[in-house]
Amino acid sequence: MEILGIDVGGSGIKGAPVALEKGELLEERLRIPTPQPSDPASVAQTVQDLAAHFAWRGPIGCGFPAAVQHGVARTAANVDDSWVGTDIALLFGEATGCPVRALNDADAAGLAEMAYGAGRGRLGTVIMVTIGTGLGTAIFIDGRLLPNTELGHLELDGHEAEIRASGAARKRDGLSWKTWGTRFDAFLGTLERLFWPDLFIIGGGASKKHDKFFPYLNVGCEIVPAQLRNDAGIIGAALAAQPHG
Ligand code: BGC
Repeated sequence: MEILGIDVGGSGIKGAPVALEKGELLEERLRIPTPQPSDPASVAQTVQDLAAHFAWRGPIGCGFPAAVQHGVARTAANVDDSWVGTDIALLFGEATGCPVRALNDADAAGLAEMAYGAGRGRLGTVIMVTIGTGLGTAIFIDGRLLPNTELGHLELDGHEAEIRASGAARKRDGLSWKTWGTRFDAFLGTLERLFWPDLFIIGGGASKKHDKFFPYLNVGCEIVPAQLRNDAGIIGAALAAQPHG
């Protein structure tokens, strides 16, 4: 089955048709910079452009950087505040003329890694952390997702963790990999003490460069980079939009 996967981020909106049998992109993905301000009408226009680029007529899955409850954005951390209370699935459905399923972006990336990547077949407690504009988290217990965990907003050294340890924070503060890695390690250490996971999967943009910061991580449990890298969000969004899913 083929579904258009879309990953809305704080800096870019990415999408591609996905073949669910293998969890692979069918065409090269398209990235369009996130409009500023990133209000619902502007982002809906970009999503419409993206679907039009692929001449898409079929189901769409969309990962979104917010707590998403039954298709509705409940928070807005790295997008315009006016998203809170917006029915993402309805809005993008009207914009594209296609059925849309919306979910949290980190949850989408986690679903993809559990199905096709680093978490495949893994039981127990698995925590996927995506490093990007924010810090996203997805928790799986015996392969089942606990949605909308939002742990990037936990307090770390008196600040929200993602303010100090996201990918955007590393670039904003011009941090060395060691300094940033030590901050990120403090975040993982907090998660480990609270949840005692069996496995951490580290994804998002920085996962491509995991060799630069994994040496500074001291967590006790197994820790691996995501395998689907930056495509996980697109693939997982498509997976979540399976008509029977
Ligand atoms: C948001 C999450 C999102 C994460 C990664 C955070 O700021 O609150 O919903 O998953 O960023 O984009």
